[in-house]
Amino acid sequence: MTEREHLLIPDTYTPTPILHDIVTATVVDAFSADLDATVWVVSRESDLEAVQQRSRSAVGQPHLSWDGLLAAGWKDTARSVIVVPQDSHPLVVVNAGPPDEVTSDILRDCAAVGLRALTATATRVGIGCSVVLPRSPERAAQVVTEGAWLARYSYRGLKAESTTQPLALLELLFPGHVPADLQRGADEGVVLARTAAVCRDLANTPPGYLTPEVLADVAVRLGEQFGFGVTTYGRKELIDLGCGGLLGVNAGSVEEPRLIQLSYAPVGESHGHLGLVGKGITYDSGGISLKPSDPMHLLMKMDMAGAAAILGAFTGFRDAGASIEVSAWLLCTENLPSGSAYKLGDVLRARNGKTVEVKNTDAEGRLVLMDGLSLAAESSVDAVIDIATLTGAAMRALGTSMGAVLGNDQAIVDRVIDAGAEVDEPVWQLPLERSYRSELDSHIADIANLGGANAGAITAALFLEEFVGDKRWAHIDIAGPMSADSDHEWRSVGATGFGARLIHQLVMDHRS
Ligand code: BES
Ligand code: ZN
Ligand code: ZN
Repeated sequence: MTEREHLLIPDTYTPTPILHDIVTATVVDAFSADLDATVWVVSRESDLEAVQQRSRSAVGQPHLSWDGLLAAGWKDTARSVIVVPQDSHPLVVVNAGPPDEVTSDILRDCAAVGLRALTATATRVGIGCSVVLPRSPERAAQVVTEGAWLARYSYRGLKAESTTQPLALLELLFPGHVPADLQRGADEGVVLARTAAVCRDLANTPPGYLTPEVLADVAVRLGEQFGFGVTTYGRKELIDLGCGGLLGVNAGSVEEPRLIQLSYAPVGESHGHLGLVGKGITYDSGGISLKPSDPMHLLMKMDMAGAAAILGAFTGFRDAGASIEVSAWLLCTENLPSGSAYKLGDVLRARNGKTVEVKNTDAEGRLVLMDGLSLAAESSVDAVIDIATLTGAAMRALGTSMGAVLGNDQAIVDRVIDAGAEVDEPVWQLPLERSYRSELDSHIADIANLGGANAGAITAALFLEEFVGDKRWAHIDIAGPMSADSDHEWRSVGATGFGARLIHQLVMDHRS
């Protein structure tokens, strides 16, 4: 701890401030009288009647008509938003597009853009929704809740006065639907939003604040609060475990590494056992292969976003009633250059015994993951998924809107793609092209940690495959979507929390 005294971190500081904010979403059949604002999601002219009726108490409300809104600048396309001035409080109307084209992604986005159209001081908010998804009003309530909470997220850890206020009250009103049915969906939406928000908080936390040791302490605390087991391993134990990858990357840092092991078990019968492995580099300078100066490196405090996505997801399993066992291995260390740092040409020994020649110390993610994957391969899990901010190459190939997925089993890869589609965290499959494996050959060790100039996301995955044994496995590279340059729909500027809801969904859908 003494290494961080210069940061003057107050005792009151918490790396997950969002947990103080997110409380609940309440489905009502009439809005409370004292709301600061209401948002309505509509998709046809007749929906505006409900808006008008439900807002009847608002004095001085103008007559709403579809053409009138269009004339005022509203667009006839999904996600278009307009603020209608009223004497009482602001009314925001969001277009969900034609009723037969409404999807859960559109509804989530509509709730998010509606929230963003409000002034940041509106804290008691009602969302009315005349549009429900075919066959599933419950799901509509869920995604509207997610969109609203995630759009209002901001990292509140370190500003005296935040520009946005957290929501104090969120009411949902779906005319013609029974509150009790919808409440289940709203509750699930809160759980999902929380998984992503916890991930965002951790990835947004400055690297000097969130050391591996602190991250391990946070995991222990979250485990107590949300009902999962946490075991942490420090340097000595990692030597005993033979985790030479994590130890090697850690060698240049004064902060101890941590292997954080998480476990969740359902109360009733278990229907499967999923293994998760997360990259937890709390700061990636590149090490001796130091990254050149570039604004991108401000983002390297988020190089633990894979581990944070898993930790975020674990906060939801008990409350969502997940019915499988889940085991996770989070590999946490800084990657820094120093007199004790690992060097180019060094050979590290992985947990599974394979030797690795280090050709670039900035390709450190795969070196820590190799130990986590080895441990997962030794365990009784029936499939392994790893998630990591692994390669700039994945970001070059697919941009920042989606992650990459590769794996040794198409059914498992498909589950990842399906889970991503369900929560609007899209992932695109790249081929695990085995003819490129020779690029990782080393003259002096079993494998090298660096491939050729091309297909960097694929050669990184080929490296990881060496450590999964005979497990069915998929790898998710989130280097692109881990962060956003600006607020956009449910994504907030900074860490996006990408992957947390995907993993939650994967676990909810998993069967051995
Ligand atoms: N953490 C980076 C990858 C990254 C880049 C994440 C941009 C998010 C945004 C990773 O450790 C890294 O440095 N990868 C190298 C690998 C290369 C040396 C083979 C890269 O992608 O350049
Ligand atoms: Zn790196
Ligand atoms: Zn990295």
